[in-house]
Amino acid sequence: MNSSHLLSPFPNSWFRIATSDELPAKGVLPLRYFGQDFVLFRAEDGTPHLLDAHCPHLGAHLGYGGTVEGETIRCPFHGWQWNCQGDCVKIPYTDKSPQTQIKSWPVRELNGLIFMYYHHQAQEPDWEIPQVPECYSSEWTPLRSVQRWKVKTNLVQYLENSVDVSHLYSLHRQTFDDAISDGIEIDGPTLTHRITQKYNLSAMLVGKLVGEADGSVKTTYYGPGYDVSYYWTKGLIQFGLFTIFTGTPIDEDYLDVQIFSCVKKVLPPPLNLLLAAFVKQDVEVTFKQDIDILEHRISPTHPILFEEDGPIKPSLRWVSQFYSSDTADQNNLAVKS
Ligand code: FES
Ligand SMILES: [Fe+2]
Repeated sequence: MNSSHLLSPFPNSWFRIATSDELPAKGVLPLRYFGQDFVLFRAEDGTPHLLDAHCPHLGAHLGYGGTVEGETIRCPFHGWQWNCQGDCVKIPYTDKSPQTQIKSWPVRELNGLIFMYYHHQAQEPDWEIPQVPECYSSEWTPLRSVQRWKVKTNLVQYLENSVDVSHLYSLHRQTFDDAISDGIEIDGPTLTHRITQKYNLSAMLVGKLVGEADGSVKTTYYGPGYDVSYYWTKGLIQFGLFTIFTGTPIDEDYLDVQIFSCVKKVLPPPLNLLLAAFVKQDVEVTFKQDIDILEHRISPTHPILFEEDGPIKPSLRWVSQFYSSDTADQNNLAVKS
């Protein structure tokens, strides 16, 4: 990506920073994203909170030995207590209070995940990620993590890869015989892309259950770091797969990628779990093929694109809105990628 006009290499958006399971009651997690250190903790009222990691007193990292007491986190070094907004509310050995705060970040918990809103100028979010009914429905198997990878890439390259339909029946030819983009719809921070696909599932584990089939995919991106996809087949069984992709920048070079999936319970109970396990494995195999490309590709200044490649250019224009730039003409930034 041509980043010469960017004020930050990171987009301003919502990002997955943990799963709900990773943060038990009174749990404390040290995190490192966006080249910064954070501490995530679950207050005794059950809500997750995120603060900058280091205590202003003498610099201890609250994520290593910090403890939750009520709605505060207690520094392990000298016991200063910081509330969920980052205010110092107690120093064990003096009644004085410091004229400083720890920076707190907006956090939401939904769909089994914990999100932070990253903005390099610390602006508050003006949009939200919606709940996904499938995550709370007994008609679907429980949402499970497929895999988590540290990938040498960025979110612009990921988005390009994701809307690029011509790589589907080339790089992923064991899964797809054909793929045609049915276009995108943009609504502010969301982008929806529909694809009609012909699956070649014979080599995949899931193919043993559903056979070959035509199908469709609808992917909705809520910012560049989180998207949800619905895959439907029209084969012997109407098979439904739901995936969540999350990518959170660790620093300028690496992305923390985690994919989650579940399937519609269209088979007798034991087979649904087998189907979910097969799909999990197949999604993992498919994304590993993308990783090899993402980690070694470059971004040509003048890529040669045809309509059949998919809606790459409009998607890159859409993603530009999430990057703060010192020029009003942000649209050109990503298109040059
Ligand atoms: S460094 Fe945190 S209380 Fe001293
Ligand atoms: Fe791919």
